[in-house]
Amino acid sequence: MQQRRYCRGRNFRRAINIEELRRVAHRCMPRFAVEYLEGGAEDEITLRRNRSIFEQITFLPRTLVDVGQRDLSTELFDARVGAPLVVAPTALNGMLRHGADFALAKAARAAGIPFTLGTLGTARIEDLVAQVGGSIWFQMYNMRDREFWKGLVKRADSAGCQALVITSDVPVYGNREWDARNYVATAQLSLRSKLEVLRHPRWLLDVMVRHGQPCFENLTEVLPKGDTRAVKGAQYVTQQLDPTLSWNDIRVLRDLWPRVLLVKGIMTVEDARRALEIGADGIVLSNHGGRQLDSSISPMEVLPEVAAAVGNRLTILIDSGFRRGTDVAKALALGAKAVMIGRSTLYGVAAGGEAGASHALDILRKELDRTLALLGCTSVSELGPHLVQFHRSC
Ligand code: FNR
Repeated sequence: MQQRRYCRGRNFRRAINIEELRRVAHRCMPRFAVEYLEGGAEDEITLRRNRSIFEQITFLPRTLVDVGQRDLSTELFDARVGAPLVVAPTALNGMLRHGADFALAKAARAAGIPFTLGTLGTARIEDLVAQVGGSIWFQMYNMRDREFWKGLVKRADSAGCQALVITSDVPVYGNREWDARNYVATAQLSLRSKLEVLRHPRWLLDVMVRHGQPCFENLTEVLPKGDTRAVKGAQYVTQQLDPTLSWNDIRVLRDLWPRVLLVKGIMTVEDARRALEIGADGIVLSNHGGRQLDSSISPMEVLPEVAAAVGNRLTILIDSGFRRGTDVAKALALGAKAVMIGRSTLYGVAAGGEAGASHALDILRKELDRTLALLGCTSVSELGPHLVQFHRSC
């Protein structure tokens, strides 16, 4: 039965699932921010597929197993994590709510899972690691200014980030039309969008007025002096994105980076093998949450083949479309070691800051725990292909 009544108002604590949290988040932000957060590329075929794919995977539950004691924790790159989840890197979190990167990192630390700060994040790497601690990963975009690029890697290293995630699926920006319609030029809102912002005085006060506009805090060295705000930053980033990034650059990064290295955006067995050859420790199967190439398959569709090819030599993470504990259980059963959570925790932070992000993670953990019990498993390591059936349509 479809849910008919969703929780109303802005009280995120009343949201009983991620979809409800999403609706609360929408009420807390102006439309341009909602469309930035939600938007997929072009006709959003991939965005929808990222969700519908989970309907093609069903469970084969075992029964009459003692599931009185259950454990969500797992080993991820030689560290014990509280659950097989990682908060995904996302740009401009501070536009959803002031201090969102700190809030997400604190919620992740409380859940015992890593948080990934993006190159285009709105918190400085050094401040985040020093003030929050826990397991902080850093995500790298390809930049034309390779010296600055290498400098960022060194900063992440000196700050103590535990993993470097290089995003491979953005040689150019995806064509997000909903997002584009809200601007007249790079990062310049249309008059209509500006007027709509006035209907959200709480957001305006929190994000724009009280603390000043969110800034690309990790790009301060290369942005015009004293102006790291999103407007100038977005222009710089658009010019800086380097479509020549190739496996040779990943090799350079491998030599520079002493700890765990992941390549995010892998979608084929061939590229998974290249990542392995180059010495990556892991990959993130991802279509960027449907924001890059439209009509791309869902990473869930390649997961079984990739796991069969490289799963015993490379740690496989996956993201794109995960909104339920059952989704996470399906990915783990098909060979992923952990799932990166993108929009789900962003809904939480937009709706309720750190407490909202924690609420999102709690929902996912509780659902995963319940799924384990109903499958007859006492730990995530017991999930395997014997518990799922993949009904491939076309
Ligand atoms: C992203 N994603 C992303 N990925 C990345 O490597 N660097 C980035 O700066 C961003 N920025 C970003 C912003 C927003 C608003 C979203 C929604 C996503 C992609 C992200 O890491 C992840 O791959 C997807 O979010 C996963 O899909 P779901 O869970 O959002 O469906």
